[in-house]
Amino acid sequence: MKQRIAELKKEKDAVILAHYYVDGEVQEIADFVGDSYYLAEKATTVPESVILFCGVSFMGESAKLLNPEKKVVMADETADCPMAHMVDTDRIAEVRKEYPDVAVVCYVNSTAEIKALSDVCVTSSNAIQIVKNLPNKDIFFIPDNNLGRYVAKQLPEKHFIFNEGFCHVHKSIHREDVLKAKELYPEALVLAHPECTEDTLELADFIGSTSQIIDYATASGHNIFIICTEMGIFYELMQKNPDKKFYSVGHRQFCPNMKKVRLESVVSALESLEPEVELEESLREKAKLPLEKMLVLAAK
Ligand code: 13P
Ligand code: SF4
Repeated sequence: MKQRIAELKKEKDAVILAHYYVDGEVQEIADFVGDSYYLAEKATTVPESVILFCGVSFMGESAKLLNPEKKVVMADETADCPMAHMVDTDRIAEVRKEYPDVAVVCYVNSTAEIKALSDVCVTSSNAIQIVKNLPNKDIFFIPDNNLGRYVAKQLPEKHFIFNEGFCHVHKSIHREDVLKAKELYPEALVLAHPECTEDTLELADFIGSTSQIIDYATASGHNIFIICTEMGIFYELMQKNPDKKFYSVGHRQFCPNMKKVRLESVVSALESLEPEVELEESLREKAKLPLEKMLVLAAK
C-alpha cells in the first residue's frame, strides 16, 4: 500500500497532510505531520494541486477555506470532531447583543458555519498569545470550555464568557488516573493538552498543543513522561525519543474519529480524489476571515 500511495501521489500531484492523532502507519506515509496550527499554515504553502487530509473534517475545511483553488480530499469523509459542532449559533447572537464590544474567539475545532460567525480563530498553540493581544476586554470563547478556561486563567485582565463544548477524549482523562500513574512513576513529568479538564491540568508540569508536547519532551533532560492527550501522539514521541519512556493514563485516550483514517482509505481517496471538501462560496468568504486573521496574528 505504501508503494501504491507513493505512485498515486505523483500521478495525482497530491501532498498528504496528517495530524498527530491518526495511526502511526498513516503518519509514516504523510508528507507533513503536525498540530492543527501547523497543518492549517502548511496547507497555504504546499505547491501540489491536491491536498489529501488525514484528520477530521474541520481540518480539511480549514485547508479548503484558505486554498479555494486547490482540491482538498479527506481520507475519511465520516471522521468528524464532535466538539466542532458544540456551539448554539443563537447563543453567539445573544452574546453579541449583550456585550456589544465582545470578540468571538473560535477554536479551530469548529465547523465552517461557526467560524463564519466568529471574529478570530485560535488553536491550542496560539490561543493565549492571540487573545492577549486583542483590543477587546470581553471574550466569548467557543466551542471548548476547557481550553477557554485555561486561556482565561492566564489572562486575568480579560472578561471571559464560556461555552459548554468539550472534547470527549480529553474529558475522559481523569484526575484520579493521573494520580495513580504518578504514584507508579513518581519521577515522571506530566504533559497535558489544554483540552483536558481543569482538575487534570492542575497536575501537569507542562501544558501545550500536540507539537508543543512533543517539542517539550524532546528538549527535556527528563526521561519519563505521563502523557495526557490522544494516544496517536505516542508515535512521534517515540520516533523522536527512542530512549525515553512515555506512559498513558488509561485506555480512553483514543479518538475514534481520528482512528477512522486507514491506509486503505488513503489509497482509495487518492485513486478517486473523493470525498472532496466542498464549501458554498458565500460561506467560504465569511468563514475564511477569522482563520486568515489567526495566521496573521500568530505570526506576529
Ligand atoms: P492540536 O494538534 O492543535 O494540539 O489539537 C488537538 C486536537 O484535538 C485536534 O483535534
Ligand atoms: Fe475532536 Fe477530541 Fe478527537 Fe481532537 S481528540 S478530533 S478535539 S474529539
